[in-house]
Amino acid sequence: MNAINFLLPEQRREGHSLQYNYERETPLSFWLADMDISTPQDIIDALSKQIVNLGYSYTYGSYFEAISEWFLKRFNVNLDTKKVSYSPSVLYSIRKTIEELSIDDEQMIILEPYYSGYSKIFNIEKVQRIPLGSSWFSDLERMIAGGGIKAVLVCNPHNPTGKIFNYQELNSLVTLCSKAGVWILSDEIHMDFAFKKFTPLISFDYEKIITYHSVGKTFNLSGTLGSYFLTNSKQYKQCFELSLEKDGLENPNLLNLVCTEIGYTKCNAWLDSVKNYIFDNFLYLQSNLNEKLEFEIPDGTYCIWIDYSRLQITEKVLKERLSKNGMRVMLGSKFVRGDEEMRYFRLNLACDREKLKSGIRLLNEFSNL
Ligand SMILES: Cc1ncc(COP(=O)(O)O)c(C=O)c1O
Repeated sequence: MNAINFLLPEQRREGHSLQYNYERETPLSFWLADMDISTPQDIIDALSKQIVNLGYSYTYGSYFEAISEWFLKRFNVNLDTKKVSYSPSVLYSIRKTIEELSIDDEQMIILEPYYSGYSKIFNIEKVQRIPLGSSWFSDLERMIAGGGIKAVLVCNPHNPTGKIFNYQELNSLVTLCSKAGVWILSDEIHMDFAFKKFTPLISFDYEKIITYHSVGKTFNLSGTLGSYFLTNSKQYKQCFELSLEKDGLENPNLLNLVCTEIGYTKCNAWLDSVKNYIFDNFLYLQSNLNEKLEFEIPDGTYCIWIDYSRLQITEKVLKERLSKNGMRVMLGSKFVRGDEEMRYFRLNLACDREKLKSGIRLLNEFSNL
């Protein structure tokens, strides 16, 4: 019933997909983080049923229970549904957190490279940035010890590198932040594409934790706005819900509630098949990509972070070579502050093998120039 149905570029373009229509038509598009895979049939059927009945709605019991069931089934976490709040989108929720907790840009730490969307919701020039290298945690300790920090924003699984912060790292993070009274904001939108053990941060017993989630990535539904967040802080939850009212957004997107409930209760096996397919794509890339393009198989996400420094070309040349051949990737400069050099690009592998083969052929051709 819930087979994987790949979408052809023509179908995606006709369906107003940003991936294929942004700025120009791109036949070989690997840049944006959405999938060339149709939403599972069970969700399509539930949406078709709901589409005749689209009045105002509210967040109902089975929506919350589905979320709780998913956390138990996929991550072995007992989630109290009282910790769940609906929110229009992940980026909106993070932005609201910053406002509601009165966090100035200078008082927040992020790890670099960072998801490019963050640069739209706060001032990247002012935020404290720590390189995501082997010493990220000691850098963080030093920065927090220096004082004046109110929050750390982590992205786990990490976009763009694919790193998953393991239990020990999260435990150290929680210990450090709880001693200093610092909030931990964890963007876990990619959690369903974890290829090794993933620990949701909400499983830690610390009040000042907020984690952000959505079925947008999981079931390829980003075009239907909607997300949810989890927090151990009752006070923050109340505060957020009030502010949603003030923004005139208290009524949820009913279609997103339906997608979340059906996805989390009926599409477990579908997600497993999609993950297996994507992981085989990783392996295929590993066996077939020119060795001058270096990468490691990611712990999580469906994207690959590729180091092209051995080609000894600038990002401008990379971009020109790709676009001449109708191919597009997400350039490394999108994930660091504007003035910094980054000889990486991100490749989205949530696509069918034939498209991947065409992409590899092209990348290999110009790697041999
Ligand atoms: C890490 C991360 N956070 C947030 C988002 C955007 O989520 P939303 O559309 O719910 O704001 C994305 C989308 O690519 C993402 O990769």
